[in-house]
Amino acid sequence: MSLAICLLAAEVAPLSKTGGLADVAGALAKYLTGAGHDVRLFTPLYASIDRARFPVQPVDELQHVPLQIGPHHYVFSVGTTRLPGSEARVYLIDCPVLYGRPVIYTTDPDEHLRFLAFTRAVLAACQRMGWPPQILHCNDWHTAFGPLFVKALLAGDPLFARTRSVLTIHNIGYQGIFSSAAIADLELGPKSYLLHQDDLRTGKINPLRHGILYADAITTVSPTHASEICTDQYGMGLQDSLRMRGEALTGILNGVDYQVWDPRIDRYLPQHYGADTLSIKAGLKSAFIERLGLSLPVTTPLAGMVSRLAAQKGIELMFESLPQVLEWRDLGFVALGSGEPQYERFLAELERRFPERVVFRRGYDDELSHWIEAACDMFLMPSLYEPCGLNQMYSLRYGTVPIVRRTGGLADSVEGYDPDSRAGTGIVFSDFDSEALEWALNTALDLHAQPEEWRQIVRNGMAKDFSWERQGEKYVAIYRQLAA
Ligand code: ADP
Ligand code: GLC
Repeated sequence: MSLAICLLAAEVAPLSKTGGLADVAGALAKYLTGAGHDVRLFTPLYASIDRARFPVQPVDELQHVPLQIGPHHYVFSVGTTRLPGSEARVYLIDCPVLYGRPVIYTTDPDEHLRFLAFTRAVLAACQRMGWPPQILHCNDWHTAFGPLFVKALLAGDPLFARTRSVLTIHNIGYQGIFSSAAIADLELGPKSYLLHQDDLRTGKINPLRHGILYADAITTVSPTHASEICTDQYGMGLQDSLRMRGEALTGILNGVDYQVWDPRIDRYLPQHYGADTLSIKAGLKSAFIERLGLSLPVTTPLAGMVSRLAAQKGIELMFESLPQVLEWRDLGFVALGSGEPQYERFLAELERRFPERVVFRRGYDDELSHWIEAACDMFLMPSLYEPCGLNQMYSLRYGTVPIVRRTGGLADSVEGYDPDSRAGTGIVFSDFDSEALEWALNTALDLHAQPEEWRQIVRNGMAKDFSWERQGEKYVAIYRQLAA
């Protein structure tokens, strides 16, 4: 039986993206639509969305809809477009005063309102379309008030009488906390007792916490991370609420959109390769080295990194270990990313110190991120925490050996290589310290120096399948359980 599923995401690839949430929202919508469900994926119509590439058709019954959020009045319209390569439809909430800004996320004082309004606009759009979603699937803090709104604000609306909600936590490090002075923006009135009272007493409202408290099902993006977030070490202050809702919490590893991330068809690569044509990968590496202006023989191992430069990503572990390894061993390194100044400074300094072997590209560059996956030999992800992580799974498919810390989805998708059994797909270390990363880098370089071993790891990784065909069904199983 097909399900009516309303998906809400603050970013959707390829329309708008700062990280993995976008990849997952787009790919899950594609998978569910392909599986025959009635999926409506909502996201804000940001100014940065390329209207020429994604032509937006207005939805007739959803033009100039008034929206009252506490004391604030907005007017929104909705347009639709299709995700490339699929029948999946995206509904874009157009409200220029909220989303017509140069970046997707801001530090503006109305940031909480931008996403409260988005969530409320989606619910209002369902009402206007007369479309009763069986599942309201919210993602991250931005839309985490969805479940409570359905329970408290829409309790009397028959359209939502059978709606069940799911919250997926992609990143528990971002909770969207705002001041309790803005409590009126929630419009809960006499139902304000439903808010988390301890937080209120400290002057705060935490959207993600309310998603955890009120969603009918909670998921996060890997089984290991689902256990981790119930601990004091990884719960980021929400561990008590998560433990309380323990039975509703599951971990589902993200899938990979192999239409986009596969070296056999990658749209950015001039030549394609698979496990039996690795010489083409070597050719791409040599072209890439030239393009980057590095002076490296093609036999020198090249490590890559594509990352938001945030504390989560464990960049600080490289501060000592990477210069040390570059000093002593034959290695090239290319990093792409932007974020916190201390990490950008470190990478810029590394490039200055090893100009012939290190390149740091500051910024966001989709094409370059695909090239790094294809042309490098190894890929670095020493994360402090990683709910799932996508680049290690992309790396596996591209024959680029991931070097990861054993946490979250990294632990669930990369197995440390064991030379005795010749099983395993990457290099995995446990401790969050530079010695451990240095060990991992040296281990990778030692293995790279043994071509037979290296070929084996590469092949093991390329044979792995993290497609949405496998992972998507797990969401459907949860939806069906809730809808029953
Ligand atoms: P997170 O969501 O925590 O950033 P993920 O590994 O799940 O981590 O997803 C990151 C996604 O964003 C990947 O698709 C990656 O290629 C992409 N990405 C991150 N930084 C950049 C960048 N600077 N340029 C291009 N793509 C990037
Ligand atoms: C995040 C997490 C990342 C995950 C992504 C998509 O922002 O940091 O680990 O892969 O969301 O679920």
